[in-house]
Amino acid sequence: MPIETWFPLAIYYEDLPDAPTHQHSLLEAVLQLEGETVEPHNYPEMAWTGDIHGVNQIHIHPAFQWIVGQVEQHVAAYLQNIGVDLSKVDLYIQRAWPIVSRTEQEVGAHCHNTAHISAVYYIQVPTEEMYDPGSLLFFNDARVNEVCPGLGSENTDIVDADNNLNQLYAAYPPVEGRLLIFPAKQRHAVTMNETEELRVSLSFDIVLTATEKAAGAYEFLTPPPNQWKKFTR
Ligand SMILES: [Fe+2]
Repeated sequence: MPIETWFPLAIYYEDLPDAPTHQHSLLEAVLQLEGETVEPHNYPEMAWTGDIHGVNQIHIHPAFQWIVGQVEQHVAAYLQNIGVDLSKVDLYIQRAWPIVSRTEQEVGAHCHNTAHISAVYYIQVPTEEMYDPGSLLFFNDARVNEVCPGLGSENTDIVDADNNLNQLYAAYPPVEGRLLIFPAKQRHAVTMNETEELRVSLSFDIVLTATEKAAGAYEFLTPPPNQWKKFTR
């Protein structure tokens, strides 16, 4: 009795071979930016995320040049793998920021709604065994096999066999030097850092637009920003 599965979510990752060479300088740059932050860190149970603390343009900061180049290269590979014709689109890093997760800090569930592709790079990952260093969870919001909506929820508790046809999330433990790429609309979270060590990562939001030549020819692609007109006010 075969059961076939369809419509897989594409999560791309690559362990960057040059990661050890750049680890120290990236870590130093992140901690310096965090230290210079003027925005207050209002939620101590949440990891420090640069995007809501005024540090969201590391893509144009010279200390991050190497990883920005890697993001560009691997996002292009990701898009080719999911069938995108790169000759017809321009790619932009829209914003990028560091995340510093200390003991018992986490990142709540969210999507990157202003972007199309998201990437995360792990600069430093806790090594304490037996404790969760803060895993990236991707939530199964589509639930294509949930034959009654809510059947698998904790309030109903009827599904008694956890398997790959009804799983509610996929967990990716962080790996030092790993670059991971996924659709920005995919809802995700980072679990609590249960260790005494620092967990430091970078997040990148990438946007696709039509090329200048193709602008206007594609109904579902944003025209290139240099063809927009800002309101005169
Ligand atoms: Fe995120």
